[in-house]
Amino acid sequence: MPREPRGRADRGVENGVAQGAQVLVKEAFVAEPYQRVDGIEVPKDVVQTPNGMYRAGKADGLFLMLRDADAAPTEAAWTYATINAEGEVTGLGRLDSCIRCHERAPFDGLYGLSRSGVRGR
Ligand code: HEC
Repeated sequence: MPREPRGRADRGVENGVAQGAQVLVKEAFVAEPYQRVDGIEVPKDVVQTPNGMYRAGKADGLFLMLRDADAAPTEAAWTYATINAEGEVTGLGRLDSCIRCHERAPFDGLYGLSRSGVRGR
């Protein structure tokens, strides 16, 4: 995916900069295999992967990023957390398992969504 210039990501903030004390929540869902049925159009929520087709099943926990209100705008401003499907906090802190990807994200630890990649824009 080509990198977009700083400020082009759509993360629910229009100025392109992470906000102090911002909390981002990403929902996860169980991936349910989808079998194509002849003569029936593939539903729009089905995604194609190299391993087959899937759609979102039941809710399977949350991924959170919490921003220190006073920190400089770098990846280090973020605290990471995970919450399982039962609502228990299963991880909280500067988690290596999150940092290993997010330190390479284009917007100070955030990936965001490409405006051009969002349906209906
Ligand atoms: C394998 C790389 C990878 C790892 C590991 C990873 N992420 Fe991400 N994360 C991404 C990518 C890529 C996106 C943007 C696409 C998406 O949302 O799926 C993203 C998006 C997010 C977002 C939405 C904000 C944004 O940057 O767009 C949150 C919140 C998030 N991740 C939390 C976490 C947490 C918490 C962990 C650790 C438990 C974690 N991530 C581990 C790659 C990763």
